[in-house]
Amino acid sequence: MDTSILDIDAKSLTLAAKLISGGDIVAFPTETVYGLGANAFDECAVKKIYQAKGRPGDNPLIVHIADKALIEKICLNVSDDAKKIMHSLMPGPITIVLEKNGKIPDCVTGGLNTVAVRMPSSPEAQAFLKACNLPVCAPSANTSTRPSPTTWKHVAEDMEGKIPLILKGADCQVGIESTVLDLTHQMPLILRPGIVTQSEIENVLGKKVGIPDKFDKSMNSPGIRYKHYAPKCDTYLNTDGDREKIKKFALSLEKNVGIVASDAYEKSFAGFKFFSLGNTVEDGAHNIFKKLRDAEKQCDAIIIIWDVKSEKADSVFNRVIKSCGGKTF
Ligand code: TXA
Ligand code: MG
Repeated sequence: MDTSILDIDAKSLTLAAKLISGGDIVAFPTETVYGLGANAFDECAVKKIYQAKGRPGDNPLIVHIADKALIEKICLNVSDDAKKIMHSLMPGPITIVLEKNGKIPDCVTGGLNTVAVRMPSSPEAQAFLKACNLPVCAPSANTSTRPSPTTWKHVAEDMEGKIPLILKGADCQVGIESTVLDLTHQMPLILRPGIVTQSEIENVLGKKVGIPDKFDKSMNSPGIRYKHYAPKCDTYLNTDGDREKIKKFALSLEKNVGIVASDAYEKSFAGFKFFSLGNTVEDGAHNIFKKLRDAEKQCDAIIIIWDVKSEKADSVFNRVIKSCGGKTF
């Protein structure tokens, strides 16, 4: 299939909306990562997403809306907590899980009786969703198991030839996916950490919010079970920033090793290819997936250094620990 890659304007948005209402799939930018969208009410269209990504069918998708009123059309019961989050944090990089109504097909929700809903803040995402004028379910627009796409070029790397249209927008500002907040239990639960933190959510809700233990089998976000964010070459994670130890380990690999780390490490690793994550935690989130994709093209092993500890830093840690398949030192 030929894939058109088009700048976002009235003409390409009209085409995108036509493809979506006709049962096809379209990649589009958001403030977190690029998404691969389909009409959330159209089972055949949704199946094309799973096919293009090679995604397991029991891993549910997030339904994206541009208009808060649409939430009533997909959910059974919009609780007070949901209303508070919608009021204070939406649009933005947060997703809420609510009880679904019967109109959303099972293939969107992986057979669960809940549905995840998100309202992106990026003007480009909003323009796309408004043009479609229906709920659009969308996972990240990468091949399953690969680092999420934060530029249109990443989407093209994974999806060219597999989908009819990529909307060519700006690079994603946040760089990691939305915080997923489950509001279907008495205590709200963060199923996937993101740049919107536990304490921000607790402030909005005025109550405690839980984070399920990562080994708890009852945890309800199926996406957490699978291999995720993996570059094409062997990847390792260092969490203490011990430069001598890292150098020794890098040399022991006897490979063309790339270092993915914040600017503070660049001087210490002069003999290695260096991929900068910037200075701040926000920079780290913004850059991580891009730098992993850059590094895999130039190296045959990657060492990520991520030694920052804070709520926001932990959301980046959540991604890098998966990228390296748990190989830490
Ligand atoms: O920022 C984002 O959320 C991006 C952009 C495109 O909006 N989307 C994204 O989608 O990251 P995806 O499919 O890569 O991740 C969706 C996550 C998965 O971990 C999935 O298991 C979880 O949300 N999820 C979706 N529906 C759920 C539900 N009903 N209950 C629990 N978890 C759900
Ligand atoms: Mg994803």
